[in-house]
Amino acid sequence: MSFKDLPIMQDKKKGVLLFYPYVSKKSGLNVKKKLAGRWLGQGPMVDKFENEFRKKFAKNCSVIATGSGTDSLHLAYILAGLKKGDEVITTIFTCTATNIPMLYMGLKIKFADIEIETMNISVQSVKKLITKKTKAIVCVHYGGLPCDMDELRSIAKKNNIILIEDAAHALGAKYKGKTIGGLSDFSTFSFQAIKHFTTGDGGILTIKNKKLEDKAKRIRWFGIDRKKKQQGIWKNDVHEVGYKYQMTDIAATMGCDSLREFNQIIKHRKKIYKTYLNELSKNKKVKCIHDYDKKKSHGAWLFTISINNKDFVQRKLRDHNIETNQVHFRNDRYSIFKKYVKGKKFPNMDYLENRYLVLPLHHKVTVKDAKYISELVNKYAK
Ligand SMILES: Cc1ncc(COP(=O)(O)O)c(C=O)c1O
Repeated sequence: MSFKDLPIMQDKKKGVLLFYPYVSKKSGLNVKKKLAGRWLGQGPMVDKFENEFRKKFAKNCSVIATGSGTDSLHLAYILAGLKKGDEVITTIFTCTATNIPMLYMGLKIKFADIEIETMNISVQSVKKLITKKTKAIVCVHYGGLPCDMDELRSIAKKNNIILIEDAAHALGAKYKGKTIGGLSDFSTFSFQAIKHFTTGDGGILTIKNKKLEDKAKRIRWFGIDRKKKQQGIWKNDVHEVGYKYQMTDIAATMGCDSLREFNQIIKHRKKIYKTYLNELSKNKKVKCIHDYDKKKSHGAWLFTISINNKDFVQRKLRDHNIETNQVHFRNDRYSIFKKYVKGKKFPNMDYLENRYLVLPLHHKVTVKDAKYISELVNKYAK
């Protein structure tokens, strides 16, 4: 087997897994109660989850719960008014979910390179890609580390461009003391299995312009005004194409339970994050993905390192039953994006491609585990 082909580690194996879903212990009983009731699909728990999320992360925004982070991104792109042929600048390094909805809409994707220190979208690269046809910039806070928001906002403002934050990794992250979720025109979150907490699958879209809330809710539900329908008004025209992008009450029940535990969730994740940072930043052969910018408070979803002998270290860690991986891959490696990258160069992504490695970081990882993993990385990094 080549170093690159390490299968996913099995749960029963002793060791440290890369990810583990976070589900509140309360959800067993609460979901059971929900299953015995009337509202399984989108009902009162979805409203509750949206309200609680708003209070915690996006006070001045409209908050729309969806079926996934990808649904939220697609909704954001529609609400941003993006149309076929519009140019959108996005990062080369992210989950495909950030960029695939652009293909649904026939948008012209302009991929930007990343910064070596953060793996976030490079502001310099964004600046070079701006044209008269640019309608939006999409940034991803990789691993939970906020992007250079002041700089991106200033580019967006100067060029009258919409800024969309894919904050799937960044729940609880802050920029200049403000929670990610309420800073830009649109921000999106994900609650799929391995995020800070999970609702099975689920997402949130936050919107600065509250006037878009009704439209967002319609497009989330086939284009139908669901409120009117529930009030008994059946003569309800559908004048825009909508989707089935709602969150269910089952998912929202799980979401509400975990949201109440979020302070403990993030506290633990930050403790593990800091342990890695302290142990690994002493070693010059290991670069921790971080720019140590005081404006940014990390959401501690992923801990990523950059090392010259990534495959060797990954293999050695696996020999000690520690699972690591790369998680996301540069999007230009996928055939569906080939059309948008022909002849384009991404030197920072090239540099990092075979160097970055994600270490385990979740509620089951202990400080002792993180110290042991760091010890091994320090021993084998060359
Ligand atoms: C950066 C990023 N954006 C979007 C998504 C999509 O979220 P979902 O899986 O909830 O659709 C993910 C992960 O799943 C992600 O990592």
